[in-house]
Amino acid sequence: MTDPTAGTDAVRRHDPAVRGFASDNYAGVHPEVLAAIALANDGHQVAYGEDDYTAHLQDVFRSHFGEKAEAYPVFNGTGANVVALQALLPRWGAVIAAESAHINVDEGGAPEKMGGIKLLTVPTPDGKLTPELIDQQAWGFGDEHRAQPCAVSITQSTELGTLYTVEEIRAIVEHAHQHGMLVHVDGSRLANAAASLGVPLRAFTTDVGVDVLSFGGTKNGLLFGECVVVLNPEKVRNIKFLRKTSMQLASKMRFVSVQFEALLAGDLYLRNAGHANAMASRLEAAVRDIDGVTVVRPVQANAVFAILPREVSERLQKRYRFYFWNEHTGEVRWMCAFDTTEADIDAFAAAISEEMGRG
Ligand SMILES: Cc1ncc(COP(=O)(O)O)c(C=O)c1O
Repeated sequence: MTDPTAGTDAVRRHDPAVRGFASDNYAGVHPEVLAAIALANDGHQVAYGEDDYTAHLQDVFRSHFGEKAEAYPVFNGTGANVVALQALLPRWGAVIAAESAHINVDEGGAPEKMGGIKLLTVPTPDGKLTPELIDQQAWGFGDEHRAQPCAVSITQSTELGTLYTVEEIRAIVEHAHQHGMLVHVDGSRLANAAASLGVPLRAFTTDVGVDVLSFGGTKNGLLFGECVVVLNPEKVRNIKFLRKTSMQLASKMRFVSVQFEALLAGDLYLRNAGHANAMASRLEAAVRDIDGVTVVRPVQANAVFAILPREVSERLQKRYRFYFWNEHTGEVRWMCAFDTTEADIDAFAAAISEEMGRG
């Protein structure tokens, strides 16, 4: 094997043996993705997306999402969401979303600040909207005093590690469209959903009428990069202008595009996501019977949510990185990544058991 540190003055400053469960973006880059970046290096290519990799990427995305799909690579997920949502709304528009949606709780107000977008949120038990829940905010059409609900945004898989079924998304889209609203899917973990549902990506997006998608790469093995994927180009227009004015247009776009090619041209997206999901199931199975640990949400993708005594979590955090999801209830979130190993899970579960035993 070649020495990965050869030929550089940079020094490795971290311990690669340290693993955690804080987020799937704590992981590094999948070797096949790194190899793809190297492949695209050398020589000159036209900047700002006029390169051969971005041109080919359109075919790659069409093979997954259908002939009308258009892919617009961007830097990050917040940017993808802000760009996609702006394209769905007039200046007086609003987006209906779950209260727990990333766009509401984890984007620092970027949709509001950068996109000028009003969010109309709904509390949900499991991070999932339904037509009935959407109706809590789908009112006041034509009333100039109310920001006009023009779009619905759902997340698949959700921020709470749950999944929409194909039929649940179909029902949401039908309902939204009946009210004249377009539908955005935050697919930061869309591949985890496809792996878990065992259906093609298009089955719960294009085929059920979703209009636009933020397709995630970073959490599934890319160095960085997400894609705004337009599925309904008749209704979702001008992404290229919105991407530039939202500061999401990469000049060296070939290096984002080639990463998505590595992920999506074969089955790497499914291998990575399926593995992360399997590690979350393994973790759930390993902690389920530990006295005092309660897994509080269905484990349907790559996240496990649990409640255990706060002092135990705090001691555990000195050994492994992870976050409190809810400071009030003491609920914690454990995320698995494409590179989480069975040994990582077993060692973590043993540490949980050990710390519980210490009371
Ligand atoms: C559901 C969801 N959407 C979008 C994002 C994108 O975030 P970022 O802007 O950090 O790439 C994340 C990252 O945590 C996420 O969990």
